[in-house]
Amino acid sequence: PTGPAPFRMPVQWVNRPGPDFRGVCGTIAAGRVALGDMLAPAGRTTQAAVRRIIASGTDQASAGPGQAVTLVLDGIDVSRGDVLAGPDVPPDTADQFQAHLIWTGDKPLITGRAYLFKIGTATVPGTVTRIRHRLDVNTGAKLDAPQLALNDIGVVNIALQSPVAYAPYRDSRALGAFIMMDRATNATAAAGMVDYALARAANLHWQATAVDKAARAALKRQRPAILWFTGLSGAGKTTIANLVEARLLALGLHTALLDGDNLRHGLNKDLGFTEADRVENVRRTAHIATLMVDAGLVVLVSLISPYRADRAMARELVAPGEFLEVFVDTPLDECCRRDVKGLYAKADAGLIRNFTGISAPYEPPAAPELHLQTAGQAPEALAGRVVARLMDGVG
Ligand code: ADX
Repeated sequence: PTGPAPFRMPVQWVNRPGPDFRGVCGTIAAGRVALGDMLAPAGRTTQAAVRRIIASGTDQASAGPGQAVTLVLDGIDVSRGDVLAGPDVPPDTADQFQAHLIWTGDKPLITGRAYLFKIGTATVPGTVTRIRHRLDVNTGAKLDAPQLALNDIGVVNIALQSPVAYAPYRDSRALGAFIMMDRATNATAAAGMVDYALARAANLHWQATAVDKAARAALKRQRPAILWFTGLSGAGKTTIANLVEARLLALGLHTALLDGDNLRHGLNKDLGFTEADRVENVRRTAHIATLMVDAGLVVLVSLISPYRADRAMARELVAPGEFLEVFVDTPLDECCRRDVKGLYAKADAGLIRNFTGISAPYEPPAAPELHLQTAGQAPEALAGRVVARLMDGVG
């Protein structure tokens, strides 16, 4: 390494007290900035000159590492999470990494589950796609590990939903350290250190297709969407979803139905009912539903999908407005009483482990697009409400 470290400043916030002042605030992570320097946000080519540097309330000619500053730039659009840098030595950006994790959550890490990653000043959803190994802190041995629990240290692969500016932790604490947060509680789940970006992040590109979602949907004269039915086993998800699909078909819409029980006969045959297996069940099904939305279809998904974080992940795969969460809300007592498949009786007798509502949790949606309280309601009437919501909300 020769010469001074290049300038890096993660943007904390943009201060806009009035129409004629716009200050970009942050703490300088590395390098120096001087009046007249050209800066660009990482990952973009727009650049602007530095007009003012304000630190501790006074104007400065330059500023350096560790200083909290407000920069006034010549018209450039930046926001919290961007990293400002000199345009000739931009920081790397990537969306997949190898990293070291120190697990601090009371619930163990589950691969495939969505967490929030806070790196620099950016917060991005993402998943741990693979645990490479756990480190034995006494011997340094690399152990196979299906999960990481409290105080475990592990080496993992991470995939973020969008690229971030980063540096390996050994080069920059500011751009190489991150934390993982539980999506349901916002509690810190892990502290992490970026080792390096995975080659696949740089070498895989999204292929634009000649025929796109809009074209496929236009031919069908419909707006694609996912109707995601969640609720306890025996709540009536599949019954209502079937009625809804029949009506949509009668209205001339092109649909598909992804039913948990049916998917578990094929694609998801390898999965059971542990928390990790349900996360994977929801992840796969959500990605298939997304591909079907790309095909222009109205997709009905009927899955217990008991965890909020996983349903949130499914929602974020499609555009805003394309995901309608339908909470099929039947009290546990009522599900046990109906017990169409005889599973509650078996679960009560201890013959089925991890049974939702009995020996495994169900986290009800906080803000579903539709909340169907089924007690005393005819399934046909409930199906009618779903169709009405789809037609006025999305159609
Ligand atoms: S999910 O939790 O992973 O979303 P999914 O909807 O695919 O579950 O499958 C639920 C169906 O599997 C239930 O309707 C029931 O028929 C069956 N089943 C078998 N074992 C269990 C269990 N332990 N918990 C819940 N459902 C189970």
